[in-house]
Amino acid sequence: MAKSKQKTSFFCKECGFESPKWLGQCPGCKEWDSFVEEPVVKTVTGRSVAAIEHREPSKLSEITTGDEIRTLTGIGELDRVLGGGIVTGSLVLVGGDPGIGKSTLLLQMCKQLAEADKDVLYVSGEESVRQIKMRADRLGTFEKEIFLLSETDLDVVAEVIGRRKPEVVIIDSIQTMYREEIGSAPGSVGQVRETTGTLMRLAKSLPVSVFIVGHVTKEGVVAGPRVLEHMVDTVLYFEGDGGASYRFLRGVKNRFGSTDEIGVFEMRGNGLVEVLNPSEFMLAGKPKQAPGSVVVCSIEGTRPILIEVQALVCQTNFNMPRRTATGTDYNRINLLMAVIEKRMGIRMGDCDAYINVTGGMRIHEPALDLGIIMALLTSYRNQSLDDDTICFGEVGLAGEVRAVNMAEQRVLEAAKLGFERCILPKVNMKSLALTKEQLEGIQLVGVGSIHELLEVI
Ligand code: TYD
Ligand code: MG
Repeated sequence: MAKSKQKTSFFCKECGFESPKWLGQCPGCKEWDSFVEEPVVKTVTGRSVAAIEHREPSKLSEITTGDEIRTLTGIGELDRVLGGGIVTGSLVLVGGDPGIGKSTLLLQMCKQLAEADKDVLYVSGEESVRQIKMRADRLGTFEKEIFLLSETDLDVVAEVIGRRKPEVVIIDSIQTMYREEIGSAPGSVGQVRETTGTLMRLAKSLPVSVFIVGHVTKEGVVAGPRVLEHMVDTVLYFEGDGGASYRFLRGVKNRFGSTDEIGVFEMRGNGLVEVLNPSEFMLAGKPKQAPGSVVVCSIEGTRPILIEVQALVCQTNFNMPRRTATGTDYNRINLLMAVIEKRMGIRMGDCDAYINVTGGMRIHEPALDLGIIMALLTSYRNQSLDDDTICFGEVGLAGEVRAVNMAEQRVLEAAKLGFERCILPKVNMKSLALTKEQLEGIQLVGVGSIHELLEVI
């Protein structure tokens, strides 16, 4: 018989770190003020060795795999991030801020799956079935049936899944689900872990593919999706800039594919629409002939995306100059400004600088360096770069421009979108294997150090 004794412990609601006493900062994830007190659920089983079923380990060479069975969701951008569709029996966590569009995305996926004759169950602990119906109505007509369940008791949900055996199940959200045996409230670290564990066992044993929604929460005692990351097969985060209508779906962990793919969507009145050519929309609205505005090419997963970087440099009115970075790394900006100051002899120490990667995307790729430097320089000198020029390249501390990976793809993307000049690392020029037709008339300018930038502006 299992017996549980009520004892409490402190858990980090960000990463699930457990501690016997309250701590101001979590030693696990370094988050401040994230500890909450919860009952510990310890099941003590008095099982003797004799009662344990004897199992033999398998030999690696004798295991046959074949390809995993994958189901395409019908939403290309989602399939891409999943690594080519849903793997049967996998547990996928979709995290993101409240209101970003997680429920909308998954309901749209259900619609597509149903149209491909899949048996789908959508479990919501947040909305009534009528509310789900209202959302579904906004997304267009559902030609085929999907099944809805408004329930927060996970044992009831598990029973329905076990009996009906759907192929895909959505749990929206994990923070609303609870199991009776666990003493703590829904959304607590203990509950989200236990309910996820139950869903994991269900997913693997039936098998059924399960999508779990996890809200990223900053306040309150609700555990965040990071607590679950190690338990699930795939972790996707849905992010975007509050005001902008663009949303990015990013893979953070994937046992069945690569993690650096992103999916791009736009939130419209009738749901999420896939953005098939992100470069085009990222550049929409770029000012013409504006100092400090530069187009760069970043690689997201296997895909090149053109993005506008903006810089505003002006004399400071403070003792300490102000610098901000939106969409990129703040420390990198300070470093690049120091490189300009030291290697080019341009005084940036008494300048404020504001850097913005437009479109709400966050980029930390070194290939952005050359673009940031170019934006800083053009803003400082109040000159503008031609509108049909793009640049990419990593910049080292000596002011040298270093090679980046996938240079061909970057150049091709620029050529495809009609750019006429591409400034790239000299070292990349040598190994570039592109034919004249592929280049479509784009002029390549190789630079070896940042000094040479002044000649091309
Ligand atoms: P939702 O999917 O409910 O977010 P989450 O599940 O991540 O909390 O998305 C809610 C937002 O999306 C809400 O602010 C309204 C907006 N929205 C649209 O703009 N168009 C639509 O068709 C739908 C369904 C929602
Ligand atoms: Mg929701």
